[in-house]
Amino acid sequence: MKSVLIIGANRGLGLGIVKFLTKLRKAEIVFATCRNVSEELANVSKEHKNLHILNLDVTDATKYEEVVSQISAATGDGGLNLLINNAGVSTKFTKINLVKAEQLLENFTVNTIAPIMLTKALLPLLIRASEANSDKPVGVERAAVVNTSSILGSIANNDQGGFYPYRCSKAALNAATKSMSVEFKDKKILATAIHPGWVRTDMGGKNAPLDVETSIRELFNTLEKLGEKDSGKFLQYDGKELPW
Ligand SMILES: NC(=O)c1ccc[n+]([C@@H]2O[C@H](COP(=O)([O-])OP(=O)(O)OC[C@H]3O[C@@H](n4cnc5c(N)ncnc54)[C@H](OP(=O)(O)O)[C@@H]3O)[C@@H](O)[C@H]2O)c1
Repeated sequence: MKSVLIIGANRGLGLGIVKFLTKLRKAEIVFATCRNVSEELANVSKEHKNLHILNLDVTDATKYEEVVSQISAATGDGGLNLLINNAGVSTKFTKINLVKAEQLLENFTVNTIAPIMLTKALLPLLIRASEANSDKPVGVERAAVVNTSSILGSIANNDQGGFYPYRCSKAALNAATKSMSVEFKDKKILATAIHPGWVRTDMGGKNAPLDVETSIRELFNTLEKLGEKDSGKFLQYDGKELPW
């Protein structure tokens, strides 16, 4: 890939993706956005000059155009090959009698509205990449949007209840991903919703079975194989298709 943008990359899975891409030289330019640069992310950027760190709180849509301009200036006619909407929040387990409107609003703002509006803002750069790589098949090397979803967003799989803010925001993100895949079909841009597995991060907690490195390695193994027929799917990190 020529260029990849990871949203929310100072810790957890986002940071893991940045480390994976830079270490294995999977992309010529890696853009990583975050609210605050962590020491770990700063260290990666010292070692890899192709890593560009951009400041972004995804709830501040007034900053989106600045991010788009910076990426456009750095990528030129090449555009942006891969957008990974990764930033996310999760309210702790909430039963119906405990759920608060503010939690719903926060989860929807970060997990649903931001990925949709960021994709909208970056679409011209994705189209540019798709056109610049018209000799390549549909996939992450040409132009793609990966929305980081969750198995908790699966309506069919919900047998525990609760988690209203997180479940609803990820189910809505899944719906948005499907719409993107339909709208982007003629532009030859892939759109997919990915569940990274239950992973040991601040969000996943220490009891999660997967470490970040395993999740990311398998995730990219899956992403690199995706083609036109996979656009609009809800997939697990290991390639397994999940029920909506
Ligand atoms: N870990 C799991 O088991 C698991 C399972 C399924 C899905 N996921 C999904 O995977 C993604 C990454 O999760 P994670 O486990 O890496 O979580 P995490 O360790 O809690 O990290 C969350 C990331 O999102 C960023 N973020 C949150 N709100 C933001 C905002 N307003 N603006 C910019 N960045 C913001 C955080 O930045 P700050 O440091 O600035 O807060 C951080 O970089 C999320 O979308 C999550 O829903 C995770």
